[in-house]
Amino acid sequence: MSQSQTIAVEFKRVMKSFGPKRVLNDVSFHIDQGQALCLLGRSGTGKSVTLKLIMALMRPDSGEVWVDQDNVVGMGEKRLSRVRKKLGYLFQDAALFDSLTLYENLALPLSRLTRKSKDEIDDVVHRVLTDVGLGADGAKYPSALSGGMKKRAGLARALVLEPKILLADEPSSGLDRITASEIDELLMRCKTEHGTALIIVTHDVHGARRVADRVAVLDKGNLVAFGSVDEVSQSENEVARKLIME
Ligand SMILES: Nc1ncnc2c1ncn2[C@@H]1O[C@H](COP(=O)(O)OP(=O)(O)OP(=O)(O)O)[C@@H](O)[C@H]1O
Ligand SMILES: [Mg+2]
Repeated sequence: MSQSQTIAVEFKRVMKSFGPKRVLNDVSFHIDQGQALCLLGRSGTGKSVTLKLIMALMRPDSGEVWVDQDNVVGMGEKRLSRVRKKLGYLFQDAALFDSLTLYENLALPLSRLTRKSKDEIDDVVHRVLTDVGLGADGAKYPSALSGGMKKRAGLARALVLEPKILLADEPSSGLDRITASEIDELLMRCKTEHGTALIIVTHDVHGARRVADRVAVLDKGNLVAFGSVDEVSQSENEVARKLIME
């Protein structure tokens, strides 16, 4: 099997409920290494829960969640921390440490999770900050960053460990169209330059149409459509069709 056909993330018959509320009902899909999946659906349909299941921050009631070569369901913390090193996670709210500068926010995971020297860490942090257009802002605290800068900073932090798989929860929400498309460009570059698999939760259909190799639509707990943008545009499911044609 060639590298491009290696599965990055796969859900097999995943069920997840909170109390009586079923959030994911028998959800199965997969995404290959080096591909971008955009996850669409109305608010509260389980998009963020899907990402948390991949990070194993939650566990499903049943089913399997494969990351690279491992089913993370039921995995112990030690093996999980090894799997998580393959994952970058851009949180919905960027989640930077307010008491640390931007530079320190990026250096922290490197000093905690790698054996890199101070000089090596310095190199990586500067390179990633430059990549996201924040090369001159390392000394700033998060409170001094604009919304768009915070999103880029969150992305930079997700990227310092050079993940094979990047999970991004609404990376461009609340941003103007131009800034949002800059974020899309950055995500695309991760894919084309580093072969990173992307799973992007978004309400921005415009961006999804440009970035996605595959689109998944969640509605009322079900995966109602999965495929290329063209395939989902012609889906038999009305919710999926409407969402993508917006
Ligand atoms: N830890 C939790 N405990 C209980 N219910 C939860 C928990 N996390 C999520 N839920 C519920 O699961 C459902 C799906 O939540 P999720 O955050 O995945 O939605 P979403 O699709 O990301 O929505 P949005 O677009 O608004 O971010 C919601 O009804 C939510 O209330
Ligand atoms: Mg969400």
